[in-house]
Amino acid sequence: MIPRVVALLALSNLLHNVYGASIATAWYASWHANRGFPLESVPWSKYTQLTYAFAETTPDTHTLSLTVNGDTGPGADLLKSFVSTAHQNSVKASVSIGGWTGSRWFSTAVGSSENRTIFVKTVTDLVTTFDLDGLDFDWEYPGAQGIGCNTVNQEDTNNFLLFLQELRQDPVGSKLILSAATSTRPYEITQQPLSAFAEVLSYIAIMNYDVWGPWSSQVGPNAPLDDTCVSSDKQAGSAVSAVKAWTAAGFPASKIVLGVAAYGHSFTVHPDDAFESDGKTLAPYPSFDASSPPTGDSWDDPPGVDECGVQQNAGGVVNFWGLIEKGYLNQSGNPSPGIPYRFDTCSQTPYAYNLTTQIMVSFDDARSFAAKGEFIRANGLAGFSTWEAGGDSNNILLDSIRSSF
Ligand SMILES: *[C@@H]1O[C@H](CO)[C@@H](O)[C@H](O)[C@H]1NC(C)=O
Ligand SMILES: *[C@@H]1O[C@H](CO)[C@@H](O)[C@H](O)[C@H]1NC(C)=O
Ligand SMILES: *[C@@H]1O[C@H](CO)[C@@H](O)[C@H](O)[C@H]1NC(C)=O
Repeated sequence: MIPRVVALLALSNLLHNVYGASIATAWYASWHANRGFPLESVPWSKYTQLTYAFAETTPDTHTLSLTVNGDTGPGADLLKSFVSTAHQNSVKASVSIGGWTGSRWFSTAVGSSENRTIFVKTVTDLVTTFDLDGLDFDWEYPGAQGIGCNTVNQEDTNNFLLFLQELRQDPVGSKLILSAATSTRPYEITQQPLSAFAEVLSYIAIMNYDVWGPWSSQVGPNAPLDDTCVSSDKQAGSAVSAVKAWTAAGFPASKIVLGVAAYGHSFTVHPDDAFESDGKTLAPYPSFDASSPPTGDSWDDPPGVDECGVQQNAGGVVNFWGLIEKGYLNQSGNPSPGIPYRFDTCSQTPYAYNLTTQIMVSFDDARSFAAKGEFIRANGLAGFSTWEAGGDSNNILLDSIRSSF
């Protein structure tokens, strides 16, 4: 009797470790494979799973589009290599469907019973073709607009759940690691309790980043750990408040993965606004010059017309390696001499400022990642997922979050 109980306990511990307490994952942005982050650069042994971004929705529910700079041919080859390299390294391979530009047709793909059945076949065919272990649904956002020209339906969230339930009934779908990348705000669902999502999803990854950015009225933290320690006008979302909201709505903490950011946002800030009255300490939440949007690092989106035909400024995104390249941080990821730096204790994220360029960056460093890892551990969350794998430098962030939880 005892050996069987021990075996069952061992199995449940194993499952807990694989699916519960220790998901170490990231999204792999396929369009950076030929821009400095090829598959060989991934530190595979430090991950349990990696998620290829993206397969984009299309106007035809039968079809997904694998993109590498908009070209579907190399996308398929890269995904094949991605999966085989992951498997050689005993890492689970998943594909993320959607994304900021790829969520345009999610609403129609799940918009009727007929379409849901077609879409189940579309996604399970992708799994079979590429030998995937999982699918991630990065729908930005069900029931609400994202990029600006998505199809949207007030029944989106209910339809999404019906689709996931049908996918779980499918012989291929039943075996998959199914995840959803979500907003910090819980899904608004009317026909069933939110916990119904937890029955069909292996986990959600809360995208706790882009909380403050160039669209905000002031410089604020990209990825706040906490926002309950600032005044209500500064409470724009955080890991603490998001996990509280999702669990209060019925989604278990053990199925929540914290989405973490290996990048920051940059802002043009006049020196009069950048500092407190001592002229040395960086001011919290300074105003910035929105008419002068800075360019980020070499991976930043240049100014141009987006998928919806709307002119956009440069993104101003600076990856962690870009912060080092631009001289804000030294090679070890610490503030460089001559760079004013402030670590915000509520959000547990830093700010750095270059007085010559008048650009301020709010970002995450090793200390912020350690704080987030500790939060994941203390709250019994399932793990972390980094946007994006290639943003790190020398695994400084990855090693920090792994060792703290
Ligand atoms: C079903 O999908 C097709 C495209 O394949 C789309 O034209 C149609 O509008 C969808 N139906 C609903 C109800 O969204
Ligand atoms: C970076 O800065 C830290 C703190 O000042 C220092 O301890 C470290 O040696 C520096 N690393 C490099 C590579 O310069
Ligand atoms: C500020 O940025 C400029 C332009 O990138 C760079 O040359 C300079 O070294 C930076 N300042 C510091 C103190 O690193």
